[in-house]
Amino acid sequence: MRRVYVSGVGLALSVATILSLSAIVATVARADDKAKFTIAEVMKKAHGGSKLANKVADGKASKEDKEMLLDLYKALASGKPSKGDAKSWKEKTEALVAAAESAVKGDADAGEKLTKAKDCKSCHMVHK
Ligand code: HEC
Repeated sequence: MRRVYVSGVGLALSVATILSLSAIVATVARADDKAKFTIAEVMKKAHGGSKLANKVADGKASKEDKEMLLDLYKALASGKPSKGDAKSWKEKTEALVAAAESAVKGDADAGEKLTKAKDCKSCHMVHK
């Protein structure tokens, strides 16, 4: 009788473990397929008002600013614009991510790369 009781508890525990594990997995999967910021949010945060991207391109940004910009551009790259083809979007946003990564690393040519990559008009003409 006693053994049956113990294994019953063990079974209940492992079911609980499996349930909580699958809850964690589900949460991670959800976080993955939804970008942190929408394209419009990235535009406002990186290119509007505070002009975060300009600050980084001019070499006047703090480490936090650079990391924030990298985060924003990563979200941008995982977004889907309503216009233009996916290949062009991938190229443009990967150039932005690469430039922000350079800035975080402190590469000397990061500003130049970023200035070239964040060309508003050439992207808006195709994707906005
Ligand atoms: C890699 C492509 C790309 C680059 C580079 C880019 N944009 Fe955008 N931008 C977009 C797209 C796509 C939209 C449309 C977003 C939407 O409405 O979902 C947009 C929308 C915007 C908006 C409107 C946001 C809103 O509230 O709806 C502003 C403001 C903006 N961009 C500013 C800029 C500025 C300033 C620059 C240059 C410093 C820039 N963008 C560079 C792709 C880009």
